[in-house]
Parts: sequence; C-alpha cells; structure tokens
Amino acid sequence: MTTVAKKFIMALSGLALVGFVITHLLGNLTLYSHTDEPFNAYAFKLHSFGSLLLVAEVGLVAIFLTHIVYGLTAKKTSLSARPKGYRVWRSKGGETPSNISSRNMAISGSILLAFVLLHVWQFRFGPAIEAGYVTTMHGEQARDLHRLIVETFKNPAWVAVYVAAMLFLGLHLRHGFWSAFQSAGLTRHNTTVKLRIFGGLLAAALTVGFLFIPVYIYFAF
Ligand code: HEM
Repeated sequence: MTTVAKKFIMALSGLALVGFVITHLLGNLTLYSHTDEPFNAYAFKLHSFGSLLLVAEVGLVAIFLTHIVYGLTAKKTSLSARPKGYRVWRSKGGETPSNISSRNMAISGSILLAFVLLHVWQFRFGPAIEAGYVTTMHGEQARDLHRLIVETFKNPAWVAVYVAAMLFLGLHLRHGFWSAFQSAGLTRHNTTVKLRIFGGLLAAALTVGFLFIPVYIYFAF
C-alpha cells in the first residue's frame, strides 16, 4: 500500500474518532447536572439499543485499531527516513508549521491509548447492577453509572489523571484535526489556515468540556 493511501486511512479513521469524541462529550454534558437523573437516563437510553450498541462498539474498536496501526506505520516510515531526528525544530511557517502538538503526535497518541484502555475498564466494564450500582429507570432496574463516576471523581488522584489525559487529548486534536484534512488531500491553500483555526478551537472546546467534568464533580458533589 502506498504512503498516501496509508495516510488517507489514518486521516479518515482519525476524523471518525473525532466524531465519536464529540458525541461522547455531548452525552457526558448531562454530568454537569446536579442530579443523577439526566446522565443515568442518557446511559439507559444508549444501552436500550442492545445489539445495535454492540455493533457500534465493535466498529469503534476497529476504527481505534486502524488509527493506531496506521499511526505507528506512519511514525516508523518517518523515523526510517530520518533516523536521527532533527536537533533543532524550527517552523518554516506556511502550510506545515512544526509545534509541540505536531512533533509529539505519537507520544500524545500513546498516552491517549493508555487512558482509553484504563477508562473503558473503569467505566464500561466497571461495577454494575450486581455490585449494587443500581437505580430505577421507567420502572426497570438500571445501572447507576452516575454513582460510579461521582465516587471516582471524589478521589483527587483520578481528577488529576483525567485532567492530564484531557490536556493530551487537546494536544493530539489540535494538530490531528487539520492535518487529517491535509493528509486526505482535502485542503486548498486558502482553507488550510481556516482549518487550523477551527481545529484549534474544536480541540480547546473538547478539552475544556471534558476536563471540567471531573473538576465539577469533585467540588459539586
Ligand atoms: C471526563 C471525561 C469523560 C467521562 C466522564 C467519560 C465517561 C464515560 C463513561 C461513563 C463510559 C461508559 C459508558 C457506558 O458504559 O455506557 C465511557 C465509555 C467510553 N469512553 Fe469516556 N468519558 C470521558 C472521556 C473520554 C475520552 C476523552 C475518550 C476518548 C478519547 C473516551 C472514550 C471512551 C470510550 C472508547 C468508551 C467506551 C464506549 C462504549 O463501549 O460504548 N472517554 N466514558
């Protein structure tokens, strides 16, 4: 497969993950409520999709794996082309500026992978109804996911872990978003700057939106 094709797949999978992260934040905004009802109702609704949710989850795992595999391949290609790395990083300006985000995509990506594994184990596969995390939704027993989240974020160590991870998410998205469009060949000279600004704003909005959830819960509950 050509490098261009690999970059294209990485860009498309990255944009799909951005779509997931946006919808994940929109759902999680219900955590800014001062009661458990809105978030548990959202989670209950999501799980009521049953096997459809399972299909979406399998698809999501496939997209994550694709992005990671092609990301590592791209890193390997760039390392073998320039094994010693540059000693001094200087932006040439123009369309391919080098900054802290662009130089550290593999590092921020690896940290995010570690975060996502920990996070999914903690919440998706964490204690459920049988462990006593139970509430009632429309007369049915439902998982009290809100209680698990509040208990987690009452611990300042978890708040610190999440705040740090969200800063890496911001760094990764800041460069990843507009660079995906460039890799996919979807930029023109006059759209690159706009995309970079939009990508920066999107990264900042997602970072702030996620980052204040643990902080809010720590102080408000
Ligand atoms: C404060 C920030 C976040 C909170 C409170 C949060 C909360 C949650 C919760 C409660 C679940 C379990 C959902 C369920 O079982 O129905 C979940 C799943 C998940 N989260 Fe997050 N999340 C946060 C940030 C993130 C970020 C930044 C990412 C990705 C970079 C992410 C990726 C995932 C993934 C992949 C799943 C599994 C989805 C599934 O299996 O349906 N989360 N999150």
